[in-house]
Amino acid sequence: MRISIIGSGYVGLITGACFAQLGNDVTLVDIDKEKVEAINNRISPIYEEGLNELLNQVHIEATSDYHRIIDTDMIFLCVGTPINKSGNMSLRYITKATEQIARVLTDKKDYCLVVVKSTLVPGTTEELLIPTLERSGKKVGGDFGICMSPEFLREGKAVYDFMHPVRVIIGEYDKRSGDMLVNLCNKFNAPILRTGLKTAEMMKLASNTFLATKITFINEIGNICKQLGIDTYEVAKGMGFDERIGSKFLNAGIGFGGSCLPKDLRALVASSRKQGYEPRFLREVLRLNDRQALIPVELLKKHIPLKDATIGLLGLAFKPETDDVRDSRAIRIVQTLLAEGAVVKAYDPLAAENFKRLFPQIQYVTKQEVLKCDAIIIITEWEEFSNLDYKGKIVIDGRRVLKAREARIYEGVCW
Ligand code: UDX
Repeated sequence: MRISIIGSGYVGLITGACFAQLGNDVTLVDIDKEKVEAINNRISPIYEEGLNELLNQVHIEATSDYHRIIDTDMIFLCVGTPINKSGNMSLRYITKATEQIARVLTDKKDYCLVVVKSTLVPGTTEELLIPTLERSGKKVGGDFGICMSPEFLREGKAVYDFMHPVRVIIGEYDKRSGDMLVNLCNKFNAPILRTGLKTAEMMKLASNTFLATKITFINEIGNICKQLGIDTYEVAKGMGFDERIGSKFLNAGIGFGGSCLPKDLRALVASSRKQGYEPRFLREVLRLNDRQALIPVELLKKHIPLKDATIGLLGLAFKPETDDVRDSRAIRIVQTLLAEGAVVKAYDPLAAENFKRLFPQIQYVTKQEVLKCDAIIIITEWEEFSNLDYKGKIVIDGRRVLKAREARIYEGVCW
């Protein structure tokens, strides 16, 4: 199949490289010429396990010229839908990309399928994308088809997750659209669920919102357990035997970050309110998660005055095995420490460069220098933090690094 991918960020690049690996002819389109050049030089612009190797194994072409996709059979829309200042999902990028695709459709002779992978609030594909595409003069259902097929990729495991999907969701405009995407996806050993366009949009948002809620739930139990001297992780182990609960995503700590869970939850809250429904529960999940990030600083203040103290941070990425700092818990923690007049020194094996763009005013040092600080907060559970020497230190642990228990003073955020 001749496939084009619009947007070469986390989703687009992984989708393109993996479909190329599966034997398809793939063209990546991105307006960022630096990204295009890097990909054509077989250098991945993002850090993802196995992606660099994959890029060097497959034939894939990157370009900034939309007209290079004129002969492709399927066009995957993988551009970002970030949250704007008013808390709503910004459709700026996807609108521009769809307008560009419409221009290509104008000159296209044969039928093609547009597949939306970007995360969208329910109704966006029908109310915005289809009318925009039809400005080409072409008709959905006749000249082109459209599906909404959300991705469920975890950063750091995205290549694995793409090749081993737990399920394939296909929101289809019509049977012809769905059949074409099934033909491409039935190579995966995964159940395929065919549904409507806005149902598929909601499935993605509801899945991520549930994961965020489950984390917030175990953090609430953790806060209660900490006061009672109960180990939340023991409680979670006992809960996990019940398959209705499941053992995954029950790691209590300083809460969820990243470019997806917080964004998708905020987008669902904003779109629910716009339709006239007040999502009180979901808003509380956001509020509680925001608050959870502040607990390490509150615990630290019990042990040392923060003004002029030098506080060392272990980890800046929103989770291990990624350089991504979007919505990282470290952001709230650094803001609060600076507001308290502390001096901050931070270490992260991958994410320091990205974090420096947000906080150039703090110091970026080695692990050993972090350990020399007056006190240490563990923010990201990098494997390498589980064999440091914490003896004699003051450690507030946000992510359950058990070795840190040897510290002179040790506190877990909710254990
Ligand atoms: C998530 C979803 O898992 C994925 O299916 C979706 O496609 C994209 O969003 P990702 O954002 O890469 O993936 O990270 P994930 O592994 O889900 O972790 C998200 C955040 O939750 C991280 O900050 C992590 O530290 C935190 N987390 C995760 C917990 O605090 N406790 C847990 O038990 C699990």
